[in-house]
Amino acid sequence: MDTESLWAALAAHHDAVRDRSILSLFAEPGRADTFSASLAYVDGQPGQLLFDFSKTNLDATGLELLVRLARAAGVEARRDAMFRGAPINETEGRAVLHTMLRGGAPEAPAPARAEAEATLARMRAFAQAVRAGRFAGAGGAFADIVNIGIGGSDLGPAMATLALAPWHDGPRTHYISNVDGAHAADTLRGLDPARTLVIIASKTFTTIETMTNAATVRDWLVAGGVADPAAQLVAVSSAGARAAEWGIPAERVFGFADSIGGRYSVWGPVGLALMLAVGPESFDAFLAGGAAMDRHFRQTPLERNLPVLLALTGLWHNQVCGHATRAVLPYDQRLSRLPAYLQQLEMESNGKRVAMDGRDLPRHSGPVVWGEPGTNGQHAFYQLIHQGTRVIPCEFLIAAQGQEPALAHHHRLLVANCLAQSEALMRGRSLDQARALMAARGLEGDELERQARHRVFPGNRPSVTLAYRQLTPHVLGMIVALYEHRVFVEGAVLGINSFDQWGVELGKELAVALEPLLAPGADDSGKDGSTRLLLAHLRGA
Ligand code: F6P
Repeated sequence: MDTESLWAALAAHHDAVRDRSILSLFAEPGRADTFSASLAYVDGQPGQLLFDFSKTNLDATGLELLVRLARAAGVEARRDAMFRGAPINETEGRAVLHTMLRGGAPEAPAPARAEAEATLARMRAFAQAVRAGRFAGAGGAFADIVNIGIGGSDLGPAMATLALAPWHDGPRTHYISNVDGAHAADTLRGLDPARTLVIIASKTFTTIETMTNAATVRDWLVAGGVADPAAQLVAVSSAGARAAEWGIPAERVFGFADSIGGRYSVWGPVGLALMLAVGPESFDAFLAGGAAMDRHFRQTPLERNLPVLLALTGLWHNQVCGHATRAVLPYDQRLSRLPAYLQQLEMESNGKRVAMDGRDLPRHSGPVVWGEPGTNGQHAFYQLIHQGTRVIPCEFLIAAQGQEPALAHHHRLLVANCLAQSEALMRGRSLDQARALMAARGLEGDELERQARHRVFPGNRPSVTLAYRQLTPHVLGMIVALYEHRVFVEGAVLGINSFDQWGVELGKELAVALEPLLAPGADDSGKDGSTRLLLAHLRGA
C-alpha cells in the first residue's frame, strides 16, 4: 500500500475504534509490555529509558498501520541519508549533521568530522582554562558567564544547564536572549564586569536581538572599567568572518558548519556555556548519551525503536485522531525549560504548510507543543485537561530516582502524582461514581444530581510516559536526541523538510521596516489602520 492508502486505512481504523475505552484494552494480557519499549542497558548503564504508550487508544492494527506508513514514507532511507551527510535539507541544499557533533555519525564525511572533533578539543581546552582560572578577566578568574543568543543559540544550553544543576561546578551561567532591554538589565545587575566572560552565540551572527544585546553588554564591560572588552568576549558562530569584526581573536571563535541547524546545535560550540558550567567530562557524558540514542535509532527495528514509536504515537494523536496540541509535562523541576526547548525543536521543524516538493500538505503539520513541570501544572491548567471539551494528549516525563537523594520523600510524592495523573486521565470518574461520592457526603435529590455532574471526569484521555533512571548528563543526552529523532520521523512521514524555517522571515523583515516608523512624525500611510492606531499609541512614549 502507498502512503495515502495507509493514511486512509488509519482514518478508517480510527473511526471504528474511536469510542472504545482505553482501559478495556488492558483486558488483553501483556498490553503494557507490547505497547512500551525500553533502552534497558546502554553504555554499561542499566535501566535507562522506558517509553510507555499503552495508555492510548492504539492497538495492534493501528500500530502495524503506522509502522507500515513509516516504512512506506521511506523513513529508514531518509534516516540513513541524514547520517551519511546527504543534503536532505533540500530548500537550503545542506546536509544535516548535528549527530556528527556527538560522535553519532561515524560515516559522515571525514573532513567534516575532523573539523568538529578539532573544535570540540579546542572547546575542552578553553573550558578547562576558564574553569581553572588560567584564562581570566581584567579582575581575575571568571565568576560569571553570560551567553547571548536566541532560539537555538539559547534554548538548548539554557535548558541543559538547568537540567544538570547538580553537575554545575563552574562559573555561574546566565542567558540573555530577549531584545527587551529588561532581560540584559536584570541579568547583568550585580555581576562584576571585570570577572564576566561573555559568549556571543549566533549561527549567522546577524540576528538583530543577539547583536543588539551583544553591543549593550560590550558597553557594560567598558562602563565597568574593562579597558579591552574584546578580551572577555567569545564568539560561537558559523560566520567566523563576522565574528572577527568584533575584534575577537580566532582562538576564541568557535565555528560550526552550515549542516548544524540552530535548534539542533547544543551538541557543539553552542553548548560552550553548558560545558563551562558542568565541565568537559559531564559535557562528554551528555554527548555520549546522544550518540547512544543515535545507535538505537539506527539499529533497532521500527517496531521497537523509541524515537519511531514516540513519533508514531504523535502522528496517531495529531493527524489521525485530530488532537491539535500536545502537553509535555516533565515531573522534574530541572526540566522546566524542556517544553520551551521542544516548542522550537518541534514547531520550527515541523510547522510547515507545504511538503518537500512544494505542494500543499494534504493533512495538518506538527502539533502545538506546550507544557509546564508537574506538579505545578496540576494546580493551574490540568482542570481543562481533565474536564475541558477538547482532548489533549499528555506526555509525562519522570525519573525513578530524583537528583536530590536527601529529599527522597519529595520524589515519592512526585512519582505518585505523575502516575495518578495518567491513571485519572484514562479512568475518569463516571456519573454513578460521582453520585455515590455526593451521597457519601450527605447530599440528596436535585442537589446531589447537580453536584454530581460537576464531579464527572470523562476519562479515556490518552497519555504516554517517558520514565528514566535519573536525570544525569548521559540520560539528558539520550532524551534530547530522542526528541530530535522523533521530530525527524514525524517530518519524514509527513513529507516535510524539518530543517529549514522560512516561516520566521516575514516578521523579521517587517520589524526592520517598522522600526523607523516609531520616530515622531514618521509617514506610516502605507500601513493598515490597526498598525497605524498602534503606532500612534506606542510612538515616542
Ligand atoms: O529566527 C529563527 C532562528 O533563525 C532560529 O532558527 C535560530 O535558532 C535563531 O533564529 C537564532 O539564530 P542565530 O543563531 O543565527 O542567531
